[in-house]
Amino acid sequence: MAALARSVLRYSARHEAAASDSFAAHVIHGLSDSSKWLSAKYFYDAAGSALFEQITDLPEYYPTRTELRILHDHAREMAGYIPLSAALVEFGTGSTRKARILIDAAPQLAAYVPVDISAEFLNQEAVAVRRDFPWLAVLPLVADFTRDFDLPSQIRSRPRVGFFPGSTIGNFEPDDAAEFLRQAGRILGVGATMIVGVDRIKDTAVLNAAYDDAAGVTAKFNLNVLTRMNRELGGNFDLSAFRHRAFYNAEEHRIEMHLESLKDQSATVAGRTFDFRKGETIHTENSYKYTVESFRTLAEAAGWRPVATWTDEKDYFAVHALKL
Ligand code: AVJ
Repeated sequence: MAALARSVLRYSARHEAAASDSFAAHVIHGLSDSSKWLSAKYFYDAAGSALFEQITDLPEYYPTRTELRILHDHAREMAGYIPLSAALVEFGTGSTRKARILIDAAPQLAAYVPVDISAEFLNQEAVAVRRDFPWLAVLPLVADFTRDFDLPSQIRSRPRVGFFPGSTIGNFEPDDAAEFLRQAGRILGVGATMIVGVDRIKDTAVLNAAYDDAAGVTAKFNLNVLTRMNRELGGNFDLSAFRHRAFYNAEEHRIEMHLESLKDQSATVAGRTFDFRKGETIHTENSYKYTVESFRTLAEAAGWRPVATWTDEKDYFAVHALKL
């Protein structure tokens, strides 16, 4: 146990050193583009992760509570797709709340492998899950789930079930989402199952409100990436000179989030200076929405066979089971 914790921490120190280099490189790359942009994965420093947790409780932000409801209502049927003594591999474990619902409903699970980039968070969660499910082998893996990674050797002979809740898949461009699913299939191996939560296309007003809440929490979450660049990359962004914008782009089937410059200005970050015209934006996130059919088509293109879909009363969200 202690050895595992140490190896997780060592891996993380290396990883974080590499990650901060790539953050600087990414910022220079994205802000040098004729349309400025940043990857949504940089939202999640400690402050950003806490703000995201607040978002999940907002009255306008339906995805988390809707998916939790679907998981609760259909956990037993979902468990029917989980083989005896399988390992549940969760991609990008933001919180173990959703996995716990499946673990509760599927006592045949022998192992749980939460995969996340934050070692500290993973270790805390692993301790809590071990306490609550003492029969389960909890094997946290510190890795960027968007990259290739090796599963722990302890689960080599077990059937694997991937779990990717939260509609995090919506942050990928559709081609990259298909590539991610293909890669997840390679990692999980022949005969694997995958359970994926996907936000659905719906009324534009509902979508817009979910990403532009009245309390302004999503605005803070978006602006926090400027704070993060200021702190980690020696930036001097003036947070009062940018505003949060979020809207549904119907042609592209996605919510777009931007930070809009309120005036002509320049800002220095990672040793470079960037000019912003008034009204110019930094595109900070895409959150793609799918119909049940369009997601199934995407999964099939990535080599998976859709075997079941569970939804809520309002048709806001879908949880898909896929087989390799
Ligand atoms: C964590 C990517 C699923 O797209 O709904 C929430 C992130 N951004 N509010 C989403 C997010 C603004 C969220 N995901």
